[in-house]
Amino acid sequence: MSSTKISLLCTLPLLALGAKFNRATPDEFGLFGYGQGFGGFPLFYADGYAYLGEPASSNSSDPGVVTFTPSGSGTSQSWIGNPNTTLTNYTVSWSNVTFAIPSTSSSDKRVRFLTNETSDLDVITTGFNFYGAAAFAVEDGRLESSWYALQVSERVNALYWNDTSLGQVPVVLNHNPPSNPQDVAGLSET
Ligand SMILES: *[C@@H]1O[C@H](CO)[C@@H](O)[C@H](O)[C@H]1NC(C)=O
Ligand SMILES: *[C@@H]1O[C@H](CO)[C@@H](O)[C@H](O)[C@H]1NC(C)=O
Ligand SMILES: *[C@@H]1O[C@H](CO)[C@@H](O)[C@H](O)[C@H]1NC(C)=O
Ligand SMILES: *[C@@H]1O[C@H](CO)[C@@H](O)[C@H](O)[C@H]1NC(C)=O
Ligand SMILES: *[C@@H]1O[C@H](CO)[C@@H](O)[C@H](O)[C@H]1NC(C)=O
Ligand SMILES: *[C@@H]1O[C@H](CO)[C@@H](O)[C@H](O)[C@H]1NC(C)=O
Repeated sequence: MSSTKISLLCTLPLLALGAKFNRATPDEFGLFGYGQGFGGFPLFYADGYAYLGEPASSNSSDPGVVTFTPSGSGTSQSWIGNPNTTLTNYTVSWSNVTFAIPSTSSSDKRVRFLTNETSDLDVITTGFNFYGAAAFAVEDGRLESSWYALQVSERVNALYWNDTSLGQVPVVLNHNPPSNPQDVAGLSET
């Protein structure tokens, strides 16, 4: 009796949020990092990993800002990345990459992308969604937003999931671009 009641209570918030999830995910979106020192750096792809900042400042051979399209719905939603053709008006070697966060057993805590030629069992590729404009992953029935960034060079920040061991700082991933592009580096705080 009481365990049925408890499990019902636990699943309710997600059921209630389900409708909002589906409405909240745009057909096409970019992701932008906000937080201390982060005023909306776009998420870009480089060498299979996700970064926040300026692709032009990356030492990767084919970095590019990612445009996402959702695939599936509700808690089985995955996000497929392709180059944002407005910003990436050069040829890159990647397309149709699947957004992935490391599972708790993964030793590499970077947020990454899978291609049709990579397989990685230590990642989670479903359960991404928005609450409002903020990106979340659904883990064990909970909405989690454990995005962290680590600066690796000027205007290049590696994106991590649930890891502060190297001094990563928390960021919010949001599908709204910054209203003032001058503020992306958080240099002009008001
Ligand atoms: C592509 O990038 C431009 C410039 O930042 C932005 O305005 C546009 O919304 C992006 N499009 C997508 C689908 O991400
Ligand atoms: C790119 O920069 C990162 C961080 O500074 C460094 O670890 C990596 O070796 C560099 N890669 C290349 C190809 O230069
Ligand atoms: C796109 O390419 C054109 C022509 O080569 C160039 O003038 C423009 O600056 C480029 N835009 C971006 C965002 O790189
Ligand atoms: C990407 O996926 C779409 C839909 O599955 C497919 O139509 C398209 O050909 C793929 N593109 C590449 C370059 O693999
Ligand atoms: C992966 O996709 C690329 C681009 O569409 C294609 O050339 C390649 O053959 C595909 N590889 C596999 C293993 O399907
Ligand atoms: C974060 O990592 C800790 C330690 O591995 C784990 O217990 C926790 O479930 C993780 N949280 C998320 C949201 O992945």
